[in-house]
Amino acid sequence: MSDATLPTDATELTGEAAALDAADELRDRRDAFALDDVVYLDGNSLGALPRAVPDRLADVVAREWGQLRIRSWEESGWWTAPERIGDRVGRIVGAAPGQVVVGDSTSVNVFKAVVAAVRIAQERGAHRDQIVVDEATFPTDGYIAESAARMTGCTVRPVAAGDVPNAVGARTAVALVNHVDYRTGRLHDLPGTTAAVHAAGALVVWDLCHSAGALPVGLDAHGVDLAVGCTYKYLNGGPGSPAYLYVAREHQPRFDSPLPGWNSHADPFGMDPGYTPADGAARGRVGTPDILSMLALEAALEVWDDVPVEAVRAKSLALTDFFLRCVQRYVPAGRVESVTPAAHAERGSQVALRCADAGPAMAELVRRGVVGDFRRPDVLRFGFTPLYTGFAEVERAARVLADVLGEVG
Ligand SMILES: Cc1ncc(COP(=O)(O)O)c(C=O)c1O
Repeated sequence: MSDATLPTDATELTGEAAALDAADELRDRRDAFALDDVVYLDGNSLGALPRAVPDRLADVVAREWGQLRIRSWEESGWWTAPERIGDRVGRIVGAAPGQVVVGDSTSVNVFKAVVAAVRIAQERGAHRDQIVVDEATFPTDGYIAESAARMTGCTVRPVAAGDVPNAVGARTAVALVNHVDYRTGRLHDLPGTTAAVHAAGALVVWDLCHSAGALPVGLDAHGVDLAVGCTYKYLNGGPGSPAYLYVAREHQPRFDSPLPGWNSHADPFGMDPGYTPADGAARGRVGTPDILSMLALEAALEVWDDVPVEAVRAKSLALTDFFLRCVQRYVPAGRVESVTPAAHAERGSQVALRCADAGPAMAELVRRGVVGDFRRPDVLRFGFTPLYTGFAEVERAARVLADVLGEVG
């Protein structure tokens, strides 16, 4: 695919890539995905298609919808899909069953989580009137936090994610933090930040969009209060696949949803004009679940069967380390600057490189079969999905990048 010419020392790195691929315990998982010879480094935006999905979706459409029709709500398990699939996601993010529900977008779940968390915090003390928000957050979280603040009599306080532990105090109701920064790939300290927010008497909401499926999150182990995330990146659920909401068991009885739709009612088919919330994760539901997307996600999650998240993390770090080494070797010094932390403890599963002419460079990379993405104004973003990315591909991507940067600009 690539028309790159091999640099003189390519054999050393290509040989190393072959050895790393041969030793890779997740190597066979790639067969579970529909991939070609494009080097796909954009799984942090839209994960690749798991092969099991098309047949499963065809069955859902033709048999469950086409033949069973309304019977499928019960007989095909449609009604309980949000909690059932929530438990599957829960295993990947370290949540015991019964605490994760799948549905709606991440944006909508940020809204539910932040408003409900403020309500819980204000039960502890009405003086808690600040929502601390990671200042580099993916914008939707910030927009929604602003609206949640207006609704709850709070103000938003933007703070660098790393400074959240020092910024929280007696007036903090909630801290809303991204586990991995979408732009730089920086991994934030979830255990330490959660503990600091708790010491201040507040609650924490984590956005896991860029960490779930790429590294162990440990929601239960670290005592996280609430969390949200999408499923179309490292969980490969497909375009617009439903997001999820985690509410720790201890908070579920006080989780007062700002969107108390009929699906979250204790007796949805009782059609009671008065609202009585369901127990458990179902309290996070709103309206009728988007069954086609949801069942595509359920089929996609089968690729995770028997995969330890720790193995995924080990491979992710090996992939990003190797990519950084290849870039250093092939790309002329000073042409790119990595904005992704070098320390493993601070790195997610992507590498972001700042460079001049990043837009045209990414367009040319894509043309040559290396797909990452461009984030304005000057960042090339490469995501590494351990379930299907191989080391030889990583070496090739760096080599094509060097060629492209030698020609563009
Ligand atoms: C960190 C983060 N939060 C929130 C979102 C928005 O998700 P949604 O479009 O599902 O609302 C994204 C989307 O890429 C994201 O990366």
